[in-house]
Amino acid sequence: MKTPVFVQLHRDSAEHIRQELIHGLTADAQPGGATVSPKFLYDALGSRLFEAITELPEYYPTRTEAAIFRVHARAMSQAVPKDATLIDLGAGNCGKAAGLFGAFCPRRYVAVDISVDFLRATLDMLQRQYPSMEMVGIGLDFSQALDLPAELGQPGAGPRVLFYPGSSIGNFSPAQALVFLRQVREACGPLAGSGLLIGVDLVKDATELEAAYDDTLGVTAAFNRNLISNVNRLVGTDMRLADWAHLALFNRLESRIEMHLVAQRDLTVRWPGGQRAFSRGERIHTENSYKWTVAGFSKLLLEAGFAEPLVWTDAPTADAGRFAVMWAGA
Ligand code: AVJ
Repeated sequence: MKTPVFVQLHRDSAEHIRQELIHGLTADAQPGGATVSPKFLYDALGSRLFEAITELPEYYPTRTEAAIFRVHARAMSQAVPKDATLIDLGAGNCGKAAGLFGAFCPRRYVAVDISVDFLRATLDMLQRQYPSMEMVGIGLDFSQALDLPAELGQPGAGPRVLFYPGSSIGNFSPAQALVFLRQVREACGPLAGSGLLIGVDLVKDATELEAAYDDTLGVTAAFNRNLISNVNRLVGTDMRLADWAHLALFNRLESRIEMHLVAQRDLTVRWPGGQRAFSRGERIHTENSYKWTVAGFSKLLLEAGFAEPLVWTDAPTADAGRFAVMWAGA
C-alpha cells in the first residue's frame, strides 16, 4: 500500500491575520463600509455549521450538484482523461472527489485545503480504500494565488484534472474569478487532455436564492453570526453575538447573494489598540456568493484561456438549470 504525502505551504501569521481583520473592520472609506473576508466563517464550529447548511431543505446547491454528478458521471468520465492527476481545490472532507474515483480512475489524487491537518485523517482513510493510488495532501490558501508545488509536474504524472466543485468560485468577483481561472489554466500544465471540472451556481429567482441563504431553522444565521466569535478570538474584539443580526439579500445588479451582519443598536467595538463605532443598522459585509448564467461563465472560461466547456445541469435545457457542472479543456 502507498502512503499519503503531506505538505503545508506558507500560512499567514496571526499578526498578519489580525491586521487584515482590523483593516476590514475600520474601513469606512471602502464602498459598503466594514468587511470581513468569508474565510473567517470557517473555524471548527463554522465548518460544521456549513456542513449542516448543506443538509437544509432550502440550500439546494450541494444536493443539486451531487445529483448532476450522479446522473452524468459516465458522460463526464468520457470527457475527463483517464489515469490523470486529480487536483481537488478546497477538498474539505474529500467526499466529492472520492465519489468520482470509480468513474475517473485517477492515478494520483492531490487534495488541497487551507490546513493540511484537515486532510490527514481523511486521506489516510481514503488510501486504505485505494491502496495503489498516489495521494498527496497540500495545505495552501489559494484565495490570493494558486501556487502549487512544482513537483506536481513530475514526468509520468499524466494529464491534470483540476476539480473545483461546490460553487466556491462564487466567492470571487468576476474580475477575481478571471485572475483565478487563468492561474488554474496555468496549473493544468502542458499535457493534452488536461482541464477543469467546476461547479457553478446559476442565477435564479431572488426568493429561492434568499431562502437558501436565510433558512427558517436559522442555521445560516448562526453560520454568519459565528464569524463574530471567530473575530473576537483572532483580534481580541469585544463584539456581542446578541448585538448582530444576519442579513442575506440578492443583489441582482451585481448578480450576487450578499451576507451581512447588521448592528442592532448603536455600539462601539473595541480591541487592543483600537475601536470603531457602529450606528444601529450599520453593517459588516461578510460574504459575496456570485451567481452566473451558463453563457456568462462559459465566456469567462474562454477569456481565461480554456476551450468551450461541456455543460451538465439539473434541467433538460442548460438555462433552466439551478446549478451547472462544466468541463473546460485547457
Ligand atoms: C461555500 C461559498 C459555496 O456561497 O453558497 C453557504 C457558502 N454561505 N451559505 C455559498 C455559504 C452561506 C457557500 N460556498
